[in-house]
Amino acid sequence: MDLTRTADLWWRNAVVYCLDVETYKDGNGDGHGDFRGLTQQIDHLDRLGVTCLWLMPFFPTPDRDDGYDITDFYNVDPRLGTLGDFVEFVRTAQDRGIRVICDLVVNHVSDQHPWFQQARKGRDAPYRDWFVWCDEPPKDGPTGVVFPDQETSLWEYDEASGQYYLHRFYKHQPDLNVANPAVRDEIARVIGFWMELGMSGFRVDAVPFLLETQGQDDAGLLPDPHDYLADLRAFLSRRNGQAVLLGEVNLPYQDTMRFFGDPDGVGDELNMCFDFIGMQRLYLSLARADAGPLASALRERPVPPRDAQWATFVRNHDELTLDKLTEDERNEVFAAFGPEPDMQLYGRGLRRRLPTMLDGDPARIRMVYSLLFSLPGTPVLFYGEEIGMAEDLRAEGRLAVRTPMQWAPVHAGGFSTGDPSRLPGPIPDGEYGPERVSVSSQRRDRESLLSWMSTLIERYRECPELRWGDYDVLDAGASSVLAYRADAADGTVIAVHNFADSPAEARLALDGLDASWVLTDLLGSDVSTGGTTKVSDGGEVRLRMDRYGSRWLRAERPEAVGGTMAP
Ligand code: NOJ
Repeated sequence: MDLTRTADLWWRNAVVYCLDVETYKDGNGDGHGDFRGLTQQIDHLDRLGVTCLWLMPFFPTPDRDDGYDITDFYNVDPRLGTLGDFVEFVRTAQDRGIRVICDLVVNHVSDQHPWFQQARKGRDAPYRDWFVWCDEPPKDGPTGVVFPDQETSLWEYDEASGQYYLHRFYKHQPDLNVANPAVRDEIARVIGFWMELGMSGFRVDAVPFLLETQGQDDAGLLPDPHDYLADLRAFLSRRNGQAVLLGEVNLPYQDTMRFFGDPDGVGDELNMCFDFIGMQRLYLSLARADAGPLASALRERPVPPRDAQWATFVRNHDELTLDKLTEDERNEVFAAFGPEPDMQLYGRGLRRRLPTMLDGDPARIRMVYSLLFSLPGTPVLFYGEEIGMAEDLRAEGRLAVRTPMQWAPVHAGGFSTGDPSRLPGPIPDGEYGPERVSVSSQRRDRESLLSWMSTLIERYRECPELRWGDYDVLDAGASSVLAYRADAADGTVIAVHNFADSPAEARLALDGLDASWVLTDLLGSDVSTGGTTKVSDGGEVRLRMDRYGSRWLRAERPEAVGGTMAP
């Protein structure tokens, strides 16, 4: 296929890697991760094959929501470095061909932000209408507390000014009023500022809440919030045609589709939306050893507008939310992967990473990442996934999955040379501690998870069909097996995965193929067949699948075997 397209719409087959500067690498020995430390580790990301880094919030913050509570949108938190360090980091990443995007958290600010400090001085105070106020919480207002362990309402009474303010998240995070044109202008300035410093786009936090105007007195008079999102995207594209918006929208598929915008065109709102539904069904499939739930999600999942893409993920920095499963389904996943109350959070999720949930079974863990890199969507990794880091339940709440990156089997896992009591989180010990799980111990081991991840990323980049082709979920003839094919103009790739703890046989009917084709294994050769599988006259193939096996196959003419793969 024409690779120029993959360079133009780069996000459609990017490898996105999310990290928090605070927990990635300490460059000055003070115990905190910082931009200098991160910059020194850029070659790890380059070797792995990362093409786009997503930086979690690194702005000045009182840190009551791990940086998602910002007091200054135009600066770097002093613990993490300076604007100068930031620019040097971006320049170094660009030198390695890695784009950088960062969190855009503009649904709310910290209550310590000077705008809110001013606003709460009185009803006529400057910045008052940058926030959402009311005398009594409206009956038709938004509902649904996000953090039920700490909040009981979305409205907090402000003694000083005698009104309630809206806070979708914690009460120390007052919501900005994006219906106010002055707020919109300021958000554009924030975007423009970071783009001038080299950002290739933004991961937009809490998009549905950002656009919400429900319950505001003048809601009926306000312009359509989706017009605002399209305006933001247009602004971004005017500044840099290659920049993207990757949005956090955890809604049913049909509702999420609205956030791509312009369904019949190229998409004029978010370039990418996370696939929260597919992620949750993946865990249900894993719990049941049944490919069905994930297969049905893939079949139900609408195709985004032409230039847009789903962003797929296995874990992120938050709890593994299971809120879109039914209660019974959620309980099945809880029972399989997080039976202890301490592993669960907010009644809807798990504060665990993948390897511990899968009891450290290497084949099963590898199978999940093989799915991530072969199923349609742009894969997003969370730091530490590449080496199989675990959570540490000693850390509070969601911080359990945000422990310091494990670089080497040395003091503090090589994260910092500083005083262990000053680290941003505990370093796990035992089976998942840096003695066993670290970058340096896996780097030269061909059998390590890190090597497997590098291979998957290499193959993924060599198979643009997977992201650009039309895809079809196939009937695999075995309930534990998920098989799908991607067809582009000049190539077909088939991915097959076995969710069961025992071997299985997949029987596939491949329309359009016949005995003049063979299937070549792309993840390693199968000794018994010399690395290829014959297709019958009628287009049928039988594939032997190991327990938790993963196979990627390319349809090739026998005389061309190997020739369509990069050397
Ligand atoms: C979503 C982020 O992923 C989460 O970590 C944060 O707490 C909330 N938005 C509030 O910003």
